[in-house]
Amino acid sequence: MRDIWSDIDNVLIDEITLQTRIKAMATQIEADYAGKDDLLLICVLKGAFMFLSDISRALKRAHSVDFMGISSYGKGTTSKGAVQIIMDLKAPIEDRNVLIVEDIIDSGRTLDYMTRSLMARSPASLRICTLLNKPARREIDVQVDYVGFDIPDEFVVGYGLDFDELYRNLPFIAVLKPQVFAHLLL
Ligand code: IMP
Ligand code: MG
Repeated sequence: MRDIWSDIDNVLIDEITLQTRIKAMATQIEADYAGKDDLLLICVLKGAFMFLSDISRALKRAHSVDFMGISSYGKGTTSKGAVQIIMDLKAPIEDRNVLIVEDIIDSGRTLDYMTRSLMARSPASLRICTLLNKPARREIDVQVDYVGFDIPDEFVVGYGLDFDELYRNLPFIAVLKPQVFAHLLL
């Protein structure tokens, strides 16, 4: 079995810093949606599953959750361009107050695609909440309403984010040792 712990180069955002920031984000969201009865969180799978579960628990107000599977990455660490819905929402979002919950915004392609496809379904409102943001990598401008952390242009794993489907279970955000990527032609 692969020892995922020995693949870590350094921890970029530790567990306590993550959890503290997520609670503050939830407080902000509660204030912004205070006048609304309805709030639907849409988790972008797979990367945002852990962030969704923590932000959902941090929100004391009523809300519902749904899930959408999006694929844009191949095996490497750079986006391959084409974005696809691989699992759609369970229910319509017409007239709902929708908040997209995403793990990370890199080129912006995934959220640009999602925003356009969800707007076509006539929600009452649509906002974006991302745990991580890599502003240096943006190719398409997207309007982001809540950002946990701006991070440098480095490939990160943990807390839901993967490399080659591993490391999602790490409770913090980390950078891998360069030799982990050595077998890939990047
Ligand atoms: P974008 O479409 O280029 O903005 O990429 C967004 C998606 O790519 C995210 O939802 C992640 O799933 C994935 N991604 C981008 N950067 C990273 C990273 O540093 N680590 C792991 N996944 C990433
Ligand atoms: Mg994602």
